[in-house]
Amino acid sequence: MNESRIKSNIQISENYFLMEIESPDDIKDIKPGHFLNLRVNSINSTDPLLRRPISIHDYNPESGSVFLLYKRVGRGTEILSTYKKDDKINFLGPLGNGFTVDFKKKKILLMGGGMGAAPLYYLCRVLSRENRLTVLLGANDKDELVYFLEIFKNTGAEVHSASIDGSCGHKGNVIDLCLMENIYDYDYIYSCGPVPMLKELQKLAFEKDLKGEFSLEERMGCGIGLCLSCVCKTVKGNQRVCKEGPVFPLEEVIFE
Ligand SMILES: Cc1cc2nc3c(=O)[nH]c(=O)nc-3n(C[C@H](O)[C@H](O)[C@H](O)COP(=O)(O)OP(=O)(O)OC[C@H]3O[C@@H](n4cnc5c(N)ncnc54)[C@H](O)[C@@H]3O)c2cc1C
Ligand code: FES
Repeated sequence: MNESRIKSNIQISENYFLMEIESPDDIKDIKPGHFLNLRVNSINSTDPLLRRPISIHDYNPESGSVFLLYKRVGRGTEILSTYKKDDKINFLGPLGNGFTVDFKKKKILLMGGGMGAAPLYYLCRVLSRENRLTVLLGANDKDELVYFLEIFKNTGAEVHSASIDGSCGHKGNVIDLCLMENIYDYDYIYSCGPVPMLKELQKLAFEKDLKGEFSLEERMGCGIGLCLSCVCKTVKGNQRVCKEGPVFPLEEVIFE
């Protein structure tokens, strides 16, 4: 269990917040795809009882900062949004397996649906050093895309977006973008986002025998492999998203 000082917790759009926390000295190995399981209740309270999993959005070892990007959707993230600079945050982690990052000179596609783009940013920064990247971002509207468009473009990746209401980029969903992009040119695909999107992407990948990885976001209890509340179906049988995942080879995930 770790406790860190919050350096900042800023609102970047109506329901999106960016939290920067001090990385504890004993944590050196933070990989893209890892997540933290955050305690959101106060020290004397057990409500809400369960921790909330949030992905590593970015990590800067020089400044000793870990960045978490979260969407306010319910009680836990509402409480999280009230934390102030210099408050302490208690967490378990980094947890999970993380993405594969040892590619060189490959053509790589990253696809993020909604808040699923959050864990792809640190991955994008790491992979863009030695690979050619295209990023496809999908969301409901412009408000949910502006921040992501800016940060992903700053990595040097080619970035395209789709919004359901047509207020930013292509009007439609990110799978439409994928079809326009001719994904068959890519060596490897990474994606995180809503299950219907991952399901469609998996179908496209199967058609052309494309390899890649999905980061799954199941509801979690313990976050450390004990309660089995986060189990997903794979070709290797049931697997725990918090322990064997959250990143799985895209061809191994079985969607219901
Ligand atoms: C490995 C992992 C990494 C994640 N990374 C991020 C991240 O970087 N940024 C971020 O904003 N969120 C992330 N999430 C989702 C985040 O954990 C939930 O949104 C959060 O726990 C909701 O807590 P809450 O108390 O605010 O909402 P609740 O009151 O618990 O739920 C509010 C609504 O959100 C839905 N919801 C809750 N948890 C999840 C979940 N795990 N997946 C899908 N829907 C859920 C509920 O069904 C409900 O409709 C991640 C989840 C996992 C498993
Ligand atoms: S959340 Fe408890 S086993 Fe995964």
